[in-house]
Amino acid sequence: MKKILLAVTGSIAAYKSLEIVRLLIKKNCQVKVILTKSAVDFVTPLSFHALTGDMPYTALYDETDPMPHITLAKWADAILVAPATTSKIADIVSGTGYDLLTATILASEAELYIAPAMNKNMWLNKANQSNVETLLKRGVNIIGPICGLQACGDDGVGAVESPDKIVDEILPKKTKGKIVITAGPTREPVDPVRYISNYSSGKMGYAIAQAFSDSGYEVCLVSGPTNMAKPYVDKIIEVVTADQMHQAVMSNMQDAKLFIASAAVCDYRVKKYSDKKIKKPNMTNIEMVENVDILSEVGHLQTKPYVVGFAMETDDHLDNAKKKLLKKKADLIILNKLNAENPLFGEDQNIVTFITEDDVMPLPQQTKKDIAKYLVEFYESKIKK
Ligand SMILES: Cc1cc2nc3c(=O)[nH]c(=O)nc-3n(C[C@H](O)[C@H](O)[C@H](O)COP(=O)(O)O)c2cc1C
Repeated sequence: MKKILLAVTGSIAAYKSLEIVRLLIKKNCQVKVILTKSAVDFVTPLSFHALTGDMPYTALYDETDPMPHITLAKWADAILVAPATTSKIADIVSGTGYDLLTATILASEAELYIAPAMNKNMWLNKANQSNVETLLKRGVNIIGPICGLQACGDDGVGAVESPDKIVDEILPKKTKGKIVITAGPTREPVDPVRYISNYSSGKMGYAIAQAFSDSGYEVCLVSGPTNMAKPYVDKIIEVVTADQMHQAVMSNMQDAKLFIASAAVCDYRVKKYSDKKIKKPNMTNIEMVENVDILSEVGHLQTKPYVVGFAMETDDHLDNAKKKLLKKKADLIILNKLNAENPLFGEDQNIVTFITEDDVMPLPQQTKKDIAKYLVEFYESKIKK
């Protein structure tokens, strides 16, 4: 889920920020709001509270959080100032931190988007133009303004860009095609109180889903049960069992150009689920049947996408991974070695080797997020060829 911090300033166009909130939430974003002192004269905190479920932030010091500028700065994936007044643009340029919004912007590494709104002469004023130029040089994204009839009756450039165009600018466009990713463990119920599962946390798969989504792919994530915060992607299907994961994958494969099987799917399930708790002595007699091999099934599709599988081995690492690649007709296997140096499950870091038919590429230890970004580059270099 993408976390957007929306800052509203004291412009007559402030009412449009309510629509921006609505659109962002509709697109699966989490939204927090800062209202400047002056913005509160134009729109009420209550409206934002009702839409986001959170009270908007209005002060540099808050009883519940002594440093909201730091909390918000770290929380946000992107900061959007919409509408942005002339005066707030000047404050951002000069780097003052006298109010919550300017202090948060100073403290944050998040991408900054500014949608100016002002009278046409204010927009054209040399001081304002020079401020906007400075922001552009610093890599700030300026959205609009557009030409239109202004509240004061003037007609010209200065009106805030429309809410849907603003939202389109800050959310990456999904033009690179559709991909399906599985993540997390599956859980195979045994009886009402027991299940078979594994230690997969979903961290690697979620990082991959986010990395592909951020680089412009339409991502369908099929996720087993995890405690992870959901990534910001187009579609998330939550499943429990291998069977459900299989069905969700196959019914979403149409037009997918890439399939990444990062889920740790249970190989077996119990043959017959018991709707009564199984008594202790009977536990050793539970009959198991094999689950469908999702990776292999996609690998053997007649028109198959590029197929990436994961292998987690404790011994004969390379041999087993290579066998998996060939047997399941995958194009790439990402090998995780599970040992004392690479505990892997739930960790932020991982050591992996990329294995294709002709290559074995060990990667240095790095974060799962960096491995995910590397996978995007690797896949794009392969399909280019
Ligand atoms: C009715 C009204 C409408 C205003 N509209 C704008 C506007 O669209 N753009 C702008 O730059 N300033 C506008 N202003 C001036 C700002 O509200 C003023 O500069 C204020 O100090 C901005 O505070 P802020 O940037 O901290 O929110 C308006 C003022 C009033 C009274």
